[in-house]
Amino acid sequence: MPSESSIQEFHTTGNFRPAVYVKQYYEYLGDENRAILRFLWRQFQRCPEGADMLDFGCGPTVYQFIAAAPRVRTIHVADSLATNFEAIQDWMAGRPEVFTWREYIQETLALEDSAAVECADILQREQLIKQKIARFLHCDLGAIPLIAGVAEASYDVLMTNYCLEFLPSHIDFEAGMARIFSLLRPGGRLILQFLRRTPDYPVGDYRFSCRQVDEHDFLRILPKCGFPSPTIEYEIVEAEAGLQRPYASFVMMAASKA
Ligand SMILES: C[S@@+](CC[C@H](N)C(=O)[O-])C[C@H]1O[C@@H](n2cnc3c(N)ncnc32)[C@H](O)[C@@H]1O
Repeated sequence: MPSESSIQEFHTTGNFRPAVYVKQYYEYLGDENRAILRFLWRQFQRCPEGADMLDFGCGPTVYQFIAAAPRVRTIHVADSLATNFEAIQDWMAGRPEVFTWREYIQETLALEDSAAVECADILQREQLIKQKIARFLHCDLGAIPLIAGVAEASYDVLMTNYCLEFLPSHIDFEAGMARIFSLLRPGGRLILQFLRRTPDYPVGDYRFSCRQVDEHDFLRILPKCGFPSPTIEYEIVEAEAGLQRPYASFVMMAASKA
């Protein structure tokens, strides 16, 4: 395990290794990742067709686009690190050395339709995801604006997974959340996942400090940001036994903006 002394704030370092991250947290499609796929599938089943979606802090992953692709018109992906874009672009180019996400696609397709999933179905969904990813945008949780050239209320779906807990420590958490949630249009849907009360998050040899938040923080903040309490839903997923995860649990949450 990395040493305590190596804990650092994400935004101060370029030490995030996309391929290491994917291997560490996604290579194994176990109960945790299956729960995430089920949650996303349920969310996108009710997403109005033709929505414009932003994934803020996309990382190098593709799992989050699988259920979204048939429902949304476009996907914009945003991150602070160009190396994460390169990982997604390598996947889009079909480079053999990158993780294929095919098991994740198969799993999601099986949720959508109980008929046997054929190889051709998986390839078709891959193509659809590639078609829907329209822009790669540099974003920074600590910057104003968060994304140059993108105004408030630009998206119908705002997704952000395991990113908000890396809000730089000098920024007030509630103010930081209000800024990011303002990217969503009235009537839009927020889809959010975060580590629950986790002090730091190891990726390979590095540990990144996290804001220790839980569902109660968001249940308090979201209504102040225009998401009525009755629209908020969430699930807590316990870390899978035997995986030695650095978190005890994580939260998957969604809410609609009034
Ligand atoms: C743990 S990864 C999550 C990646 C992906 N969303 C997922 O579901 O696995 C955290 C992501 O947040 C991004 N991130 C961290 N600090 C950021 C900041 N200040 N501004 C924008 N993105 C940031 C990282 O580059 C990284 O892609």
